[in-house]
Amino acid sequence: MEKQISKLLERARKGIESASSLKELDEVRVRYLGKKGEVTALLKGLGALSPEERPAAGQAVNRGRKEIEDLLAGRKVVIQGLEAEQRLKSQVVDVSLPGVVYDRGSRHPVTRVMGEILDIFRGMGFSVHQGPEVEKDYYNFEALNFPKDHPARDMQDTFFVEEEVVLRTHTSPVQVRAMEKQDPPLRIVSPGRVYRHDYDVTHSPMFHQVEGFMVDEGVAFSDLKGVLVEFVHQFFGHEVPVRFRPSFFPFTEPSAEVDMGCVMCRGKGCRVCSGTGWLEILGSGMIHPEVFRHVGYDSEKYTGFAFGMGVERIAMLHYGIDDIRLLFENDVRFLKQF
Ligand code: FA5
Ligand code: MG
Repeated sequence: MEKQISKLLERARKGIESASSLKELDEVRVRYLGKKGEVTALLKGLGALSPEERPAAGQAVNRGRKEIEDLLAGRKVVIQGLEAEQRLKSQVVDVSLPGVVYDRGSRHPVTRVMGEILDIFRGMGFSVHQGPEVEKDYYNFEALNFPKDHPARDMQDTFFVEEEVVLRTHTSPVQVRAMEKQDPPLRIVSPGRVYRHDYDVTHSPMFHQVEGFMVDEGVAFSDLKGVLVEFVHQFFGHEVPVRFRPSFFPFTEPSAEVDMGCVMCRGKGCRVCSGTGWLEILGSGMIHPEVFRHVGYDSEKYTGFAFGMGVERIAMLHYGIDDIRLLFENDVRFLKQF
């Protein structure tokens, strides 16, 4: 019996020492001390011994069991220590490594310029009102005094959705929609996307306009000039030259286009201003009585002015961008500069 036990102990010791994880160690425990383990089997076998042999054998088995339990406990502490060390090694933090740099987005230059334009007009008492991009022919043309087959319709190459439905070519239809809903006095700015069959360094098939209009008793052309010059000076600075050039729109009379000195070449003439030194930024004029008739305003009592500016043009002048298409190519290297 003694011999049997010391051999068993020898094997158990080796097993315990070579266990390298808690799981392996537990397998060793089960092999010797489990319900069907070798030590348990020895204890069960004691019954078969003679009463004289039994006490000594029983003590020997129990000593053996005690020793195995102690060895297991000792090895468990060692393994836990090794595993903790392993964990620390794999989770080590190198504080000298450079941090992760996240790419920060920024607002698109057109969005920023749009916000600045609206802020200036809000400061002059205008409120913001928006209209649909898919628009009825009636609002885009008819009510703005573009009769059917009128050559003025060719001024803006139109995308048609259906026979009487277009992608609006300008924000001016919002004038009609707003005046249908509200009686004078009104002072409104209307930002949004517009669409035309256009494409070159200063023309894009989709671009943004800000429409502005004011209607009340006694509104004069001098009010229009005052508001627009104030706008250009607030936006671009007081030294920038501005000129009003007589023009034509069916829905205004008289009409004027407003040009700014080209900031790209400082007036010398370049690709952007087609060599003229000036860049057109908006169309404007006194609202035509025919428009008032369509919305039921009394044109004997009320007068008003309106203007529509191209936001991309203003962004180009503001940031010195020489090709409008850069604004829509979504090249991150370009967009990051703002
Ligand atoms: C109009 O769209 C008129 N609705 C403006 C207006 C409003 C006149 C109220 C009178 C009263 P025009 O077609 O000129 O006008 O366009 C206005 C501005 O939009 C231009 O000065 C220009 O800055 C800009 N623009 C025109 N076409 C394009 C285009 N394809 N791409 C970018 N900007 C454009
Ligand atoms: Mg024009």
